[in-house]
Amino acid sequence: MSNIIIYGSCYGTTKQYADELSKRTNIEAISFKSVKEINNYNNIIYLGGLYAGGVLGMAKTIKKLNNIANKNIIIATVGLSDSTDEVNKNNIRNNIKKQLPKEIFEKAKIFHLRGGIDYSKLNFTHKTMMKLLYNAVKNLPKEKQTVEDRAMIETYNQKVNFIDFSSLDEIINEIQKLMF
Ligand SMILES: Cc1cc2nc3c(=O)[nH]c(=O)nc-3n(C[C@H](O)[C@H](O)[C@H](O)COP(=O)(O)O)c2cc1C
Repeated sequence: MSNIIIYGSCYGTTKQYADELSKRTNIEAISFKSVKEINNYNNIIYLGGLYAGGVLGMAKTIKKLNNIANKNIIIATVGLSDSTDEVNKNNIRNNIKKQLPKEIFEKAKIFHLRGGIDYSKLNFTHKTMMKLLYNAVKNLPKEKQTVEDRAMIETYNQKVNFIDFSSLDEIINEIQKLMF
């Protein structure tokens, strides 16, 4: 059984989770930017930062798969918003559904982790995107704001870190089920 952890991270929070998961499972972790061939692996664990609902690098990486018959796929998103909120979780999952072929979405085990943000480190494009998003939602009545909107409003222009390595436990359990 061969395994790989692949991650898509722009500012490092997803990479921190991927490296910790790698340490705890002894599975190599590699950025989606460096990965070439993934068809040799049975178990593929993909961790990706959430960017406007998209999972960074996921669709591009999954496209490299020719045949999923004997594959197990685990996907973990890393975002700012509270993924224990059911509505939010459903939003994230519906977005993932749009980014993957149907058979892969149905087969994948999906998890959610919380990352962080440091506005002083954002590139120009991301800063502009956040400003536009913030301006679009900040004056909405509270009942119209989604959990994602609220997470953004509460953390706007700040540095916050919600990384919690204990949230990797359920992913590690799932990996162990696949390996033994
Ligand atoms: C432009 C932009 C868009 C984002 N969109 C979302 C989003 O749709 N949902 C969410 O939960 N977090 C969103 N975030 C927060 C990131 O997912 C969070 O900062 C994550 O930890 C980034 O991972 P990374 O550090 O590995 O790049 C966004 C952040 C930026 C800068």
